[in-house]
Amino acid sequence: MYKICVLSGDGIGPEIVNEALKVLNKVGQVFDIKFEFNHALIGGCAYEKYKKPLPDDTVKLAKDSDAVLLGAVGDWKYDTLPPEVRPERALLGIRKELNLFANLRPVMIFDELLDASSLKPEIIKGVDIMIVRELTGDVYFGEPKGIEVRVNEDGVGIRYGYNNMIYSEKEIERIAHSAFLTAQARNKKLCSVDKANVLDVSRLWREIMIDVSKDYPDVELSHMYVDNAAMQLVANPRQFDTIVTGNIFGDILSDEASMISGSLGLLPSASLSDKGSVSLYEPIHGSAPDLRGLNVANPIATILSAAMMLKYSFSNNEAYDVILDAVKNVLKQGFRTKDMFKDGDKLVSTTQMGDAICGEIQK
Ligand code: IPM
Ligand code: MG
Repeated sequence: MYKICVLSGDGIGPEIVNEALKVLNKVGQVFDIKFEFNHALIGGCAYEKYKKPLPDDTVKLAKDSDAVLLGAVGDWKYDTLPPEVRPERALLGIRKELNLFANLRPVMIFDELLDASSLKPEIIKGVDIMIVRELTGDVYFGEPKGIEVRVNEDGVGIRYGYNNMIYSEKEIERIAHSAFLTAQARNKKLCSVDKANVLDVSRLWREIMIDVSKDYPDVELSHMYVDNAAMQLVANPRQFDTIVTGNIFGDILSDEASMISGSLGLLPSASLSDKGSVSLYEPIHGSAPDLRGLNVANPIATILSAAMMLKYSFSNNEAYDVILDAVKNVLKQGFRTKDMFKDGDKLVSTTQMGDAICGEIQK
């Protein structure tokens, strides 16, 4: 019996998580796995109730679970709240509390959706990339940070906003090991993305990547500046196998890379910590408050996140493959949620997409 902490969050979160739970239940029947789902609040909905986006009980439940499934957090109506209580802070908070330093973001191409991408099919066909994003450091968490008035030499006060892009060698070392192990299990090519031509933090990053590479002689390490990587991802994405990068570069590059696959609504992620600790699974997209309650959101990214849970937390590669195949079959049959829809496709709602995927789940 696996205890799953379910954090649906805000916006479309509850709708897409519901579909993922349906799929897990179906997988449970087919593979004879029992899941216990325990729900807790995170983000804006938690703020409404407790005046805190990440209540202590939520953290406790997550820590006492075998894995966490998260929908999305945030809504425009919270944009004016002080930064400490904004929904996004809860996401950063839970990542930090669970020490989820390694975020795996696979970029997969579904052949049925080759035309849905804004890039030409011949550029994206066969793309299969794993982005390993460091998730608990960098400018996201670096101190000092803030907005403050500083008085210049003319005695005039002007405001400065600042954050600190900082990594310790230990933090770089552990994400490097995760990335090399990931690359080793794939095509043994690792591209480390940094900005070492300008940033000191990146110079250290590159140095440590090279040091750690000595433990993995079978993996070919290359380096790329982040501006070039952003360009190469759309010019020739097939050159990449595994990418490792820091928190902010990974945030930006993974959104960019998601468009290769045709929709931000397709890509899952796994946030992992040290072996044996609780991991968290969430789609890479946000809460899309404009779509809330309309039953139109694409649940596939969340369903695939649940699949990643089966693979990474419960070592069940077979169940992972079964879900992935179910998604492919449904796409093959022409079912599309609004974000992927073109003339001639079969337009389906969030719940219909979930049902169709469940219908394809078999051993
Ligand atoms: C993501 C998101 C988050 C991030 C936001 C919502 C805090 O964009 O998971 O990529 O920046 O990490
Ligand atoms: Mg992001």
